[in-house]
Amino acid sequence: MNIIIINGPNLNLLGKREPGIYGAESFESYFATLQQRYSNIKFTYYQSNVEGELINKLHEQGFSCDGIVLNAGAYTHTSLAIADAIRAIPAPVIEVHISNVHKREPYRHHSFLSSACHGIIVGFGMDSYRLAIEALINLPKG
Ligand code: DQA
Repeated sequence: MNIIIINGPNLNLLGKREPGIYGAESFESYFATLQQRYSNIKFTYYQSNVEGELINKLHEQGFSCDGIVLNAGAYTHTSLAIADAIRAIPAPVIEVHISNVHKREPYRHHSFLSSACHGIIVGFGMDSYRLAIEALINLPKG
């Protein structure tokens, strides 16, 4: 199985950025534990702070991989273009958020992406990514 994890803006700073909200672990360190735990899955990790680059990655991977775990960061709340890119590709996309966005500021309560995604996982800290991987593993084939 081939799974792509895509992180959007400011998520390159995980571990340093607002640790009270996002935790103290870098994504690179968390990614290594994921790879060990799911050694039968081929993971690709991509991060960008640029909206168009996230869209290009969805286009590039979305016709060949088995699933995409996407944390689009703040673009979740603003980007119709990323929502359209998700709708344009056949791979199932799981939207994830580390924090429970519904407990936070009202402008984080709306996602342009959720209705385009297969499902959403919100508020479990870094474990949100693993739960999304479990969801992809358990999806019926085809
Ligand atoms: C986030 C939540 C977003 O509102 C925020 O802009 C982020 C991170 C999360 O994972 O909790 O950058 O997507």
